[in-house]
Amino acid sequence: MTDNSSHPAKSYTVSLHYDRRLYKHDVAGSIAHTKMLARRGVITDKDAELIATGLAAIREEIELGEFLWRDDLEDLHMNIEARLHQKIGEAAGKVHTGRSRNDQVATAMRLYTKEVIIKTVASVRALQRALVTQAEANLTTIVPGYTHLQRAQPVLLAHHFLAYFHMLERDAARFQEAHRRADVMPLGSAALAGAAYSLDREWVARELGFSRISENSMDAVSDRDFVLDYQYAAAACMMHLSRFAEELVLWSSEEFGFVRLADQFTTGSSIMPQKRNPDFAELARGKTGRVYGHLVGLLTVLKGLPLTYNRDLQEDKEGFFDTVDTLLATLGVFAPMVGTMIVRADRMLQATEAGYMLATDLADYLVRRGVPFRKAHGVVAELTKYAASKGKTYKQLGLEEYKKFSPDFAAGVMDITEEASLAARDVPGGTAPARVLEQLEAAKTTLEAAGG
Ligand code: ARG
Repeated sequence: MTDNSSHPAKSYTVSLHYDRRLYKHDVAGSIAHTKMLARRGVITDKDAELIATGLAAIREEIELGEFLWRDDLEDLHMNIEARLHQKIGEAAGKVHTGRSRNDQVATAMRLYTKEVIIKTVASVRALQRALVTQAEANLTTIVPGYTHLQRAQPVLLAHHFLAYFHMLERDAARFQEAHRRADVMPLGSAALAGAAYSLDREWVARELGFSRISENSMDAVSDRDFVLDYQYAAAACMMHLSRFAEELVLWSSEEFGFVRLADQFTTGSSIMPQKRNPDFAELARGKTGRVYGHLVGLLTVLKGLPLTYNRDLQEDKEGFFDTVDTLLATLGVFAPMVGTMIVRADRMLQATEAGYMLATDLADYLVRRGVPFRKAHGVVAELTKYAASKGKTYKQLGLEEYKKFSPDFAAGVMDITEEASLAARDVPGGTAPARVLEQLEAAKTTLEAAGG
C-alpha cells in the first residue's frame, strides 16, 4: 500500500472512525468466504485455516482494545487485511480471492442491519410491555379524549395508552419487513460482474445466517435500499415517540397535571426551584429531526448514482449509525419513563367533568326521545352555555334547569355519567371498558407470541 499520509486531502476519504463498528460482521464475512474457497479447492485447507485463525485473533485484538487502527489505510476492511498480512504473511492475500470490497462492505452492512433490527424490535417490545402494564393499571381511569386539543369525549386512560401500543406494533412490523429485505447475501458479486471462480454462494449464505443470495451482482453491490428501509421504519417510530413525548410534556405541565414523571426523567432549573422540566421527553421530540434528516440524506446520496459501486455509497453509514443509536437510546429511555410515571387520576377526572364532555351523550339522549339530531345539538349547545355561565358542571344542574332547554329532558338524564358514556361506546375498538379489556388481552397475546 502506498503511503499517502502526506497527501493533503487524504483524510477526506477516511471512513475508519465510523465503519469500525462493522468489525465483527466484516470478520464473519471474510471467514465464511475463506472456508468456502477451501471447500471449492480455490485455496488450500492450510491457507484457509491460517486465515480463519488469524481473523479470529484480530477480532479478539479489536475487542480487547489492542488493535492499532491506521487512518492511512482508510477503512475497516483495509485495516483488517493489512493486520492479517502482518500476522500470517503471504497467505493473507488469498482472503480476497473472488471478492471485492464492494461485495464485502455490502455483506457487512447487511449483517449489521439484520443484527440491529433484532435489537430494535426487542426495544420496541419493551416499550409495548410498559404500555400494557400502565393500561392494565388504568382500566377504570377516565381521561378527557381530545380532538384539535379541545376536550372532546371521555375515554379510558388504558385506551389512550393502547393507542401507542398499536403504533409501535406497526413499527415492529416495518422493522421485521426491513429484516426480510436485508436478509440477502451479496458475496460472489465481486466488484460488479460476479466472481470468476466457482463459488458456493448458497453455502456462504447459510454459514452467515442469510436466507437468500442476491440475484444480480450489479444490483447487489450498489443497493442500499435495506438501509433506507431501516431508516424509514426508524423515522416512523421516532415520529410516534415524538407524539407521545409531546403529550408527556403537556400532561406533566401544571396546566394539565395529568401525570408526574419520575425524578430521573426530569431536571430542575438552576434558578426556579419549583420546576421539573421534562427534558427526556423534549429531547426525544427534538432528536426526531436528525433521524428524519438521515433518511432524506441517504435518499439524496443514492439518487444520482449510476450503476454500480460509487464511492458515494460510503456515505450510507454515519447517518444510519446515528439513527440506530438515537432510536435505541430513545426507546431505552421511554420504557422506564412510561413504566415509572405516576398517573393523577383525580386531575384527569376533574378535567373531564369541567370539560362538558358528556355533551354528545346528552344530545344522543334527546335523539333517542325523538328529537332530530340537529335540534338536539342546538339544545345542548344552549344548555352548555348556560351551565358555563353559572360555573356549574352538568352534574350540578337540576332537572328543572335541563327542562328549561327542552321538554324532552326527563329524570333519566341524571343517569348520564362519564361511566355510562364510556359503556355506550361498545363497538369493537371502542372505549367501553369491556372492549378495552378485550384489546388489552389481545395486546398481551401479541407480546407473548412475540416472545414475551
Ligand atoms: N469504505 C468503502 C465503503 O464503505 C468500502 C468499499 C470501497 N470500495 C471501493 N471500490 N473503493 O463503501
